[in-house]
Amino acid sequence: MPFTYVDGVLTCHGVRLEDIASAVGTPVYVYSAQDILRRYQEYREGLAGLPHEICYAVKANSNLSVLRLLAQAGSGFDIVSGGELFRVLRAGGDPRKVVFSGVGKTEAELQYALECGIHSFNCESEAEAELLDCIAGRLKRKARIALRVNPDVDASTHPYISTGLREHKFGVDAADIPRVYQACLRMPNLLPESISCHIGSQLLDPQPLLEALDRMLELISELRAAGVPIRRLDLGGGLGIAYRPEERPPAIGEVARALRRRLQGQELELVLEPGRSIVGDAGVLITRVLYRKTTNAKHFVVVDAAMNDLIRPALYLSHHEIIPLEQAPEGKSILADVVGPVCETGDFLARNRELADVAPGALLAVLAAGAYGFVQSSNYNSRPRAAEVMISDGRWRIIRQRETYEDLIRGE
Ligand code: LLP
Repeated sequence: MPFTYVDGVLTCHGVRLEDIASAVGTPVYVYSAQDILRRYQEYREGLAGLPHEICYAVKANSNLSVLRLLAQAGSGFDIVSGGELFRVLRAGGDPRKVVFSGVGKTEAELQYALECGIHSFNCESEAEAELLDCIAGRLKRKARIALRVNPDVDASTHPYISTGLREHKFGVDAADIPRVYQACLRMPNLLPESISCHIGSQLLDPQPLLEALDRMLELISELRAAGVPIRRLDLGGGLGIAYRPEERPPAIGEVARALRRRLQGQELELVLEPGRSIVGDAGVLITRVLYRKTTNAKHFVVVDAAMNDLIRPALYLSHHEIIPLEQAPEGKSILADVVGPVCETGDFLARNRELADVAPGALLAVLAAGAYGFVQSSNYNSRPRAAEVMISDGRWRIIRQRETYEDLIRGE
C-alpha cells in the first residue's frame, strides 16, 4: 500500500494527503500512479517468457488518466461496453489489444467495436455470435472470437461477484462448448481462435483459478482434436486484495508464475483481465468529518462521503479500513458507525467500527478504494460526484474535476 504515515501524517510518495484535501476539497479519490504501474509490472514479470497479454479490466477504474498510464506501459484492455471502448481510445489505448466481454452487447456496440478493429470478442451465447457474424459480414470484416465458458467452478467469493457457477448468467455451459464452436466455425465471418472464462472477483484463494485453468485445458484439447484451432486462452481477472489487514490475498507474481508453469509448452497465448488487483490498493477516498453524534444506541461519525461516492459497503457489506489523515498522539479510539449524508440507513462506510476518536473537521482516508469506487458512484440525492487526483513522481494533479450543480442538470 503506497499510503503511509510520515511524522504522524498520511502521505503517498512524499505528498501529504491533507494538502490535496485542502486544495481540492472532499470527498476526493486519490490514486498512486506508481502503485498502479507496479502491479501491472508484477503480472508482466510473472508471465515473462510466456506469450501473453494483460488486458486491464476498465470497469474497475476507467478514469482516462488511469487508462493512459496503463496504455503507455503497453497494457491491453478488457471492456464491457461501447462507452469503455470510447474511453480506451481517447486514452490512447491500442484497439488491437482490446477484448470485449459481457452478456448483453448491443448491435451498435458490436458494430462500433468491429469498426475500431478490436482484437476479439468474448461471446457469451450462440445468439451473440450469430449477430456478430451478421454485422461482420455487412462490414466485410472478420471477427475474432472466444466463447466464454461457464466452467462451473466455485470462486468462494461474495455471491454478487461470483460468476463461474452453472446458475449464473455468464458464459456457455462447458458441456455445450464443442457444439457451439462447431456452429461458430460454420459462420463465415467469425474466427473462433480463443476461449475464455472468468470465475469471479476478489478471489483470496488462487486455487479455484487454477482449477478453472485445468478445466479449460481439458476443453482446449477436446476442441483441438475436433478441429477448432484454439490459440489463445483468456482466464479473466479476479485476484483479490486485502480489504482487512488480516486478509492474505495471493501475490500477483506467484499466481502468474504458477499459470506460466502450467501453460509452458501448450502453444497458447494467455490473456488475463485483472482490474481490482491493479488499481484497488492504489487508491483511497478522503472524506471530512462533519459531525459527531451519539444516540442512546451508538456513536456516529457523520462524514461528507456517502454511498453515492462509495457504494461497496452498502451493496456488498464490504469492509474498507478507515484511518485518520493525522494520527492522534494518544491513539484514543471509539466504536462507531461511519455514515454519510444520504437519506438511507444503508448509507454507511463502516458499522460498529473501532476507529480513531476524530473530531468534526478531521480528515479520514477510506482505504483500498481505487477499484470499483468512483466508477460505481452516482448522483443520488443530487450529490455532485467527487474529484479524482493522481499522484505521480511526488506531485499531484486533478484527473477529474469535482462535479458542479450545473453538471447535475446537464441533459435534463
Ligand atoms: N473480466 C470480467 C469478464 C469481469 O466480469 C471482471 C469483473 C473482471 C475481468 C475483473 O475482475 P477483477 O480483476 O477486478 O476482480 N463491483 C464489484 C466487482 C465486480 C466485478 C465484475 N467483474 C466490487 O466492487 O467488488
